[in-house]
Amino acid sequence: MTYKILITDNLSPQSLVILEEADDAIFDVVTGLTPETLAERIPEYDALIVRSSVTVTEEVFAAASKLKAVGRAGVGVDNIDIDAASKRGVIVMNTPGANSIATAEHTLALMLALCRHLPQAYTTLQAGKWDRKVYVGRQLYRKTLGLIGMGRIGSQVASRCQAFEMDVLVYDPYLSDEIAQKLNVKLVDLDELLGQADFISLHAAYTEETAKIINHETIAKMKDGVRIVNAARGALIDEAALVNEVKSGKIAGVALDVFVDEPLPKDSPLLGVDNIILTPHLAASTLEAQEFVGIQVIEQVLDGLRGQGFRNALNMPA
Ligand code: MLT
Repeated sequence: MTYKILITDNLSPQSLVILEEADDAIFDVVTGLTPETLAERIPEYDALIVRSSVTVTEEVFAAASKLKAVGRAGVGVDNIDIDAASKRGVIVMNTPGANSIATAEHTLALMLALCRHLPQAYTTLQAGKWDRKVYVGRQLYRKTLGLIGMGRIGSQVASRCQAFEMDVLVYDPYLSDEIAQKLNVKLVDLDELLGQADFISLHAAYTEETAKIINHETIAKMKDGVRIVNAARGALIDEAALVNEVKSGKIAGVALDVFVDEPLPKDSPLLGVDNIILTPHLAASTLEAQEFVGIQVIEQVLDGLRGQGFRNALNMPA
């Protein structure tokens, strides 16, 4: 039996070697697919591997007569219609943990860049200005961090921020007191976090409950001068509200790696605002994380196709 696998985003060369060496699998890498062109191609494939550039819709699953598994090289599965997959008996898997460190490190990079105005200082220095007085920063030391979501990435961010001697508050309805105690963080409700945090960092999945969790109403409950970081999902934030509140001075600064629309539209109101710094969804993009994610997703998909079990399946019990 030879399994046919379609890969719709670039995976690390090291991970593709596993497929090249497998004598029961062949694969195609086809990037730039839309849901329509993916639906046209999908009928011949036994498995699909995606990152975030492709949306796997109900129409794709309807056309996928041979498909047994979808592997997401990464964590977020908001680009995959999991209900439609389940109805067709297709297993959806992700690779939790494989890029947590990379994402946590990028979160810290954003937080520090925000406090020390690194992008602005770099840009003005390149333009020949020596603006030492303009870019006076703020320290993380002894500030309060509010984490919304405390899964694998949130926990890594917490421990790194504790090294900066920050106090860590967590809002996560799924975290037990016992684990919170172990991680040395204080579990609080959302209002308490909003009212006390100097920095708020988002590490929740995008769901009905977390959609636009940062909005006009929740921003109003935050401390004046709060700083917000988001390397999770763009849709956790009402972007228009965020821009307004940065311009009004309520929010001192924002660092974003993710956006409601990606790639970020050239006319996005987030662009060109002084205290909003942006990176193009880079948090998980380290060589190490991409290698690990690619290898993990390919091994999981091959194991599943070979009847050796579906690891990290999101629509079947472990
Ligand atoms: C993830 O969900 O794993 C990250 O956002 C990175 C990615 O989309 O590839």
